Amino acid sequence: MARLTRRDMLQLSAMAGLGASLPFPLVAQTPGQTITASTGEMQLVPGNYPKTGFWGYGGRLPGQEIRLKQGEVADLRFVNALPDASTIHWHGMRIDNAMDGVPELTQDNVQPEQSFEYKFTAGDAGTYWYHAHNRSFEQVARGLYGALIVEEAEAPDVDRDEVLVLDDWLLNPDTAQVDTDFEAMHSRSHGGRLGNFVTTNASYDLTLEAGQNQRLRLRIINAANARIFELALAGLEGWAVAYDGMPLEAPEAVTGTIALGPGQRVDLIVDVVAPAGERANLVRLEREGGVSQVAFNVGPAVALGRRPAPAPLPPNPAMVVEGLDNARRLRLRMEGGAMGNLRTASFSGQELDFRGLVDKNQYWAFNGLVGMTDTPLAEISRGETVRLEITNDTAFPHAMHLHGMHFREVMQAGGLGPLRDTVLMTSGETREIAFMADNPGKWLFHCHMLSHAASGMMTWVDIT
Ligand code: C2O
Ligand code: CU
Repeated sequence: MARLTRRDMLQLSAMAGLGASLPFPLVAQTPGQTITASTGEMQLVPGNYPKTGFWGYGGRLPGQEIRLKQGEVADLRFVNALPDASTIHWHGMRIDNAMDGVPELTQDNVQPEQSFEYKFTAGDAGTYWYHAHNRSFEQVARGLYGALIVEEAEAPDVDRDEVLVLDDWLLNPDTAQVDTDFEAMHSRSHGGRLGNFVTTNASYDLTLEAGQNQRLRLRIINAANARIFELALAGLEGWAVAYDGMPLEAPEAVTGTIALGPGQRVDLIVDVVAPAGERANLVRLEREGGVSQVAFNVGPAVALGRRPAPAPLPPNPAMVVEGLDNARRLRLRMEGGAMGNLRTASFSGQELDFRGLVDKNQYWAFNGLVGMTDTPLAEISRGETVRLEITNDTAFPHAMHLHGMHFREVMQAGGLGPLRDTVLMTSGETREIAFMADNPGKWLFHCHMLSHAASGMMTWVDIT
């Protein structure tokens, strides 16, 4: 095979079904399990390309899947066999602050050849994920992430459960190695580090078998550094039943596209409606049109007809956000980036103009402050209800993630949106989120476009 251009790489990732690849085998999960982060290599790009070097959990991509039962106490020993310090963040898990995995804020960095024991109760069922939180713009881009699934006591009525971890890799088109310019000015100041090779479960052409009228639960996780996936169904019909792990009160029929920003998840329950011998797809919309993100080879019907619409998933505890009228009100103005309006901001206690910020490879500010500060965005008393109004005064979308608690959007038309841990804000938007400050500790609030987080879009709240 001839060498691929950057453009070919994108097209390659768009071609589906060249060869069937198997989903990754599950690791047997026992309490007291070890998660070792190490370097590895795998045949990510097909053809005559060399294997791609990566950093991963359990020596695989995506990292070893962690499956817990709701209510279980997870005892996970993280062993760092990487050449760099690291920690693990359990994205979306409402757990003790000491287990949140943020270096310098909630724990010390785990140095190479050291280990750390994470212990927490999986109180919420749903689709979560875990990833490195030291230099995450680099470590997540190298592959340090995996699915974290918490099973409901009673599983929904589906024939199969598929975990689909989406990512895009920025690869050198000659060598198929991960581009190591992790702090590139362009990706920091624009839309983040966007890849040129899109994968599902580390396969660019993931193809699964299915039967007509089969009902599948698709647990979709966006692990990409910056890519927003616009997803649609073809030959599949179904419902969204959970966002960011949290069950919806009522399943929502999927009629259009679903936008999934970095860090976000959606659980779909879909029926295979394509006839036997055809293909069904989870489709990713690109500027040029739809391409296959996952293909299903449809085999003979497994049932005579379709089942009735699914019941909602059982609710998790503490999903109510109340006390909005007397809530503590906060504001966050997001500024900066290329084509933005940011004139000056404070970085490390120094007021700098935009030129000065660029010199420091910093581009973004929250309320005029660049990156982490000694004092939090707000000190909040435990039990308070918080309403946070966010304005995206930048030319780019951002996926804002709150650690430790889920929130609901206060809808302009009245009412509250679904319980989520990450909100995707398009350029120019103002949106308000509300949450119960019921989890004490120091919690990050940052953009999950990880290059943005590293160049200004990071703050925290202190709940005491
Ligand atoms: Cu998934 Cu602080 O991030
Ligand atoms: Cu951002």
